Amino acid sequence: MKILITGGAGFIGSHVVRRFVNTYPEYKIINLDKLTYAGNLANLKDVEEKQNYEFVKGDIVDAIFIDQLFADQDFDAVIHLAAESHVDRSISSPLEFVMTNVVGTVNLLNAAKKYWTGEYLNKRFYHVSTDEVYGALGEEEMFTEETSYDPHSPYSASKASSDHFVRAYQDTYGLNAVISNCSNNYGSYHFPEKLIPLAINNIKNNKPVPIYGKGENVRDWLWVEDHARAIDLIFHKAESGTTYNIGGHNEWKNIDLIRLLCKIMDRKLGREEGASERLLTFVADRAGHDLRYAIDSSKLQKDLGWKPSLKFEEGLEKTMDWYLANEDWLNGVTSGDYQTYYTEQYSER
Ligand code: NAD
Ligand code: TYD
Repeated sequence: MKILITGGAGFIGSHVVRRFVNTYPEYKIINLDKLTYAGNLANLKDVEEKQNYEFVKGDIVDAIFIDQLFADQDFDAVIHLAAESHVDRSISSPLEFVMTNVVGTVNLLNAAKKYWTGEYLNKRFYHVSTDEVYGALGEEEMFTEETSYDPHSPYSASKASSDHFVRAYQDTYGLNAVISNCSNNYGSYHFPEKLIPLAINNIKNNKPVPIYGKGENVRDWLWVEDHARAIDLIFHKAESGTTYNIGGHNEWKNIDLIRLLCKIMDRKLGREEGASERLLTFVADRAGHDLRYAIDSSKLQKDLGWKPSLKFEEGLEKTMDWYLANEDWLNGVTSGDYQTYYTEQYSER
C-alpha cells in the first residue's frame, strides 16, 4: 500500500508518519509538506533513512502540483493532516486558513476523484479534523458525532468547511472517506505557539506565561501518540463514510492545568515551590474564545476498542522531560520568525 500523508512534518503528522513507517514496513509512506513555520524535518530525523519513507516538499494549495503528484504516484490512500492549525493566527490571517484548509483539501479531493475513478472501494481518503468544528459547550454536555457544526474561529470555520467538502465528495462521487475529530493534543514536537509547549518554554526561560482572560476556558487534552494510534485504527478498520470523535476524557481549566505544570516544572528545574507560578500573567482574552470543549469518544471505544493509554500527569511529565532533553529542537524552532510572531501576538495584550 502506498500512502500519502500530508502535513507529516508538523506536530501530529510527524507522530502519524513515525507510527506508520515503523509499524508497517511493507507500506510506502510519502510525506508531503510545505514546511511552513510549523513544519520541521527535524521532527522525523529517526525515520528519514528508512526504506519505506519518502519526503516530498510541496504545497497542497497548488492544484497543478497536486494533480501531477497523483499522476506520478499510484497512491492507495491519503491521510490528510496538512493545515494551518493555530486559532490566534487564524484571527490575524484568516485567508491563509481558507487557502490551505479549504482549497488545499479540495485540491486533494479533486486529485483523488480524478485518479481513483472506478476503484474507490479499494482506496481511502482519511481527513483529520478537530473538535473545534462543533463550537463551544456549556458546563454539562459533550460533543458526539451527531453534534451540529457551529464553528466560531476562522480556524474552526475553515476545518468545518473542509469536513463538509469531504462528506460532499463521498455523497456525490462515492469517495471512500473517513473523518475523525479530535480534542486538543499535547506531547513531543509540539510547536511552542500552543498553550502547553509555550508555557513549558516560557517557564524554562523565566518569562511571563500569558493566560487569556481568567483562565476559565476548558480543553480536553489527549496525548498525541494516543491520537496517532486512533488514526491507525480508524484508517484500517472504519467503514467508509464514518466519523469518529477522539478525546481524552481529560478536561482541564487552563488555569488549573498551568498551575499543575508550574508545580512539576519547579520540581524538575530544582526551583523553590511556587517560583514558576509567579510567572503567570493574565492578559486580554482571545476574541471569540470558545469556553469549553469535551469529547465523547464512546463510539470509537465501543466499535474499535480504542482508549487513551496514559494518565494526564504521566503524559505531562513525559512531555516536559522531552522538552528539557531537547533544547536544541526548542531553540531551533523559537529563533528567527518565532520572535517576531511572539512580539506581535503578545506585546499588545
Ligand atoms: P501543525 O501546525 O503542527 O502542522 C501542520 C503541518 O502542515 C506543518 O508541517 C505544515 O508545514 C504543513 N502545511 C501547512 N500548510 C501546508 C500546505 N499548504 N501544503 C502542505 N503542507 C502544509 O498542526 P498539527 O497540530 O500537527 O495538526 C495536524 C492536523 O490535525 C490539522 O489538520 C489540525 O486541524 C488537526 N488537529 C489538531 C489538533 C491539535 O491539538 N493540534 C487537534 C485536533 C485536530
Ligand atoms: P491553544 O493551545 O491555542 O489551542 P486551542 O485554542 O486550539 O484550544 O489554546 C489552548 C487554550 O489555552 C485556549 O483556551 C487558549 C488558551 N491560551 C492561553 O491562555 N494563553 C496562550 O498563550 C495560548 C497560546 C492559549
